[in-house]
Amino acid sequence: MSVELSLEQRAILERIEAGQEHLFITGRAGTGKSTLLRHLVDGSDRQIVVCAPTGVAALNVGGQTVHSLLKLPLGVIADAPLRQSAELKRLLGTIDLLVIDEISMVNADLMDAIDRSLRQARGVRAVPFGGVQVVMFGDPYQLAPVPGDGEERAYFADHYDSMWFFDARVWREEAELAVVELVHIHRQADLEFKQALNAVRHGTVTAEIAQLLNDAGARTPPGDDVLTLATRNDTVTRINGRELARLPGRAKTASAEITGDFGGRQYPADADLQLKLGAQVMFLRNDSEGRWVNGSLGKVVDIGGTVWVEVDGEQHEVEPAVWEQYRYSYSPTTKEIKRDVVAEFTQFPLRLAWAVTIHKSQGKTFDRAVVDLGQRAFAPGQTYVALSRLTSLEGLYLTRPLRPGDIIVDQRVRQFIHGIRERDAARAARADLRPEGAADAAPPTETAAEAERRDLVEAYAPDAPTPF
Ligand SMILES: Nc1ncnc2c1ncn2[C@@H]1O[C@H](COP(=O)(O)OP(=O)(O)OP(=O)(O)O)[C@@H](O)[C@H]1O
Ligand SMILES: [Mg+2]
Repeated sequence: MSVELSLEQRAILERIEAGQEHLFITGRAGTGKSTLLRHLVDGSDRQIVVCAPTGVAALNVGGQTVHSLLKLPLGVIADAPLRQSAELKRLLGTIDLLVIDEISMVNADLMDAIDRSLRQARGVRAVPFGGVQVVMFGDPYQLAPVPGDGEERAYFADHYDSMWFFDARVWREEAELAVVELVHIHRQADLEFKQALNAVRHGTVTAEIAQLLNDAGARTPPGDDVLTLATRNDTVTRINGRELARLPGRAKTASAEITGDFGGRQYPADADLQLKLGAQVMFLRNDSEGRWVNGSLGKVVDIGGTVWVEVDGEQHEVEPAVWEQYRYSYSPTTKEIKRDVVAEFTQFPLRLAWAVTIHKSQGKTFDRAVVDLGQRAFAPGQTYVALSRLTSLEGLYLTRPLRPGDIIVDQRVRQFIHGIRERDAARAARADLRPEGAADAAPPTETAAEAERRDLVEAYAPDAPTPF
């Protein structure tokens, strides 16, 4: 499972380990952000704490949610006083590096609360984040923060330029945020497909590109077992229910064993998992022996005390897996941060997978899938996330052709990334150096990487061509 990091990934790792900058590590889908995060956490000697905005994302990276780590209240936090126990202060006082995954789902208010919480706990009120290095991973062209209710939206409108984490006061007024972009895409190899994905990402889809995608996708999937990525939950439930019912025999139910308190958060798998012989399933965890990874698809071939699943022509016995909900605490004896298990969820690491939501498909890689955008895509980045899960055009099936309305790009994201590029270019001109960030990250000898970078820069043109 473990991959060797590329040169640009290693360069970023070194930059993080140098320890002084706050970094936002971004890049297109499949550029290896999550891979890099895992290497960072596994390989560092520093006191690292990993967190993520949602329970599922936190479980994925073996961390805690931002709220539970910092004991923050839910909803808009604004200037509310933060209550911190002596224990929490000791814990936060020990951190060297705070890693936040899926940062695009953290809003500006929460970002500022993270800053304030660390300053307060560490008793260093004049220094951003109380002196902790903050390293964030994510792609703002994918998941956006959840808009919240009317009151919440009004609060953001009054206090911030947008809900995005990068518009937090701490970044606008106090701390410098270095943005580093991974350029090389590992998930796809075909240049035409990569360029088409790029255009979907940036809302620069021309008639030609739309035709490329639509022609490739206008085929009937070979059989019922091709995974559908759908915009809506009810579509997913309907497809999975329909396909399960179609299979002969009675469904068997595996009930999860749950100990401790998951804090009302979503479970990492179904509490009651219904399976039948022949059911199409997706693995929700990596296998320690590498027989499957999180996202692998298979078919149930036997159900007894355990479940047998066929993956790529091989049958494997699947045992229940344990998901551990962690909580960090400070140990006064060792003077180090330790991670305790506070709750456990035991279930087969499987879910029915004739269909999943595009939202749930985040971060995953598939060789083929049916993309069902329903009436229309409704969230920025949704179509991009769906299409960019695929490793090649040969694996793309569309339930209907893409329409211009499916391509939604958040304008504030575009502005932000463009602003970063201008800032770095201006600095480089002043210092008579090559631009920082993307330009540094890739080795100068890689001509393919250079081509990709040119492609990327062109796509960021502020007056991008109108959609097809
Ligand atoms: N250095 C590398 N060498 C080979 N394969 C790699 C490398 N880095 C990442 N990959 C592979 O590329 C795929 C995408 O990587 P990863 O999921 O880390 O990307 P990501 O940037 O997090 O994507 P997303 O934005 O979709 O979450 C994975 O299959 C991963 O194993
Ligand atoms: Mg990822």
